[in-house]
Amino acid sequence: MKQRLLNNGRLPPALEARLAETYALHTLAKEPDPKAFLAAHGAEFTALLTSGTVGADAALIEALPNLRVISNFGVGLDKIDVAFAQSRGIAVGYTPDVLNDCVADIAFGLLLDVARGMSAADRFVRRGDWLETAFPLARKVSGARLGLVGMGRIGRAIAQRSSGFEMDVRYHSRRPVAEVSWRHEPSLVELARWADFLVVITAGGPGTRHLINAEVLDALGPDGFLINVARGTVVDEAALVRALVERRIAGAGLDVFENEPQVPAELMPLDNVVLLPHIASGTRETRQAMADRVYDNLQFFFAEGRPVSAAPPA
Ligand code: 8YV
Repeated sequence: MKQRLLNNGRLPPALEARLAETYALHTLAKEPDPKAFLAAHGAEFTALLTSGTVGADAALIEALPNLRVISNFGVGLDKIDVAFAQSRGIAVGYTPDVLNDCVADIAFGLLLDVARGMSAADRFVRRGDWLETAFPLARKVSGARLGLVGMGRIGRAIAQRSSGFEMDVRYHSRRPVAEVSWRHEPSLVELARWADFLVVITAGGPGTRHLINAEVLDALGPDGFLINVARGTVVDEAALVRALVERRIAGAGLDVFENEPQVPAELMPLDNVVLLPHIASGTRETRQAMADRVYDNLQFFFAEGRPVSAAPPA
């Protein structure tokens, strides 16, 4: 008998096809009345599949009384009620490490783009403006001060990349990280005051909601840039929009938004903002590695009783 696997995520079709060979896979989004479906069939499922931006709340987990494992396509667990799942003995698998490089690459891409005005310069050339005038001077990246908000696996990958640009690195996290030599800054506001580029790469969820607020943005100041490759919720987006419109910070590079795919309309005309549609992990290589980990987490769970990459206790 195949295990019944409920799909409540946005997954690559090739992963769904692969899973459907081993599991009885059912996609909740295809149900005209998902609530009624769960009431009638919730008890049949032992496994749940989801993705970083969709997740699994307590109500969904409760509707699956025989659930044993959740496998998440993504490293961010903020949309999953991990504490509730774990309190019911449900294992949670996710995809750490395999996306570190690509997320760090995009963080640096956004940083270079917004500092040097690359996307804005591209629009300038396409509009024909170069025929009339020169593009304005930009901000030098090499040798600048890089402040990281978060020093997990991806934070380290970003800091490592910055050594090629001879940047001075400091970071803020709740506690200093023992294995790293970069300087820990206990005050986020002080880090923002010091930094030329403040890069947000901390976990989302209630603990970090609006960590980057108006006070932090004002400390970053009119010469400072904000880069966010974490979660939109970590930044008070209304305060960020105000700071950008009023030029109280120099610019921002954003891969994530509070209500994505909704992006504040006020940002659209601004040339000092680079807007990406949450693509940091979006390469063929990394998405394949994430898909493989989602599959392996389920297989290993049903063979050995735990996912290959299990979420730490919440
Ligand atoms: C998404 C991400 O998971 O890993 C994460 O937490 O935010 C991304 O990699 C991916 O876009 C699929 O939802």
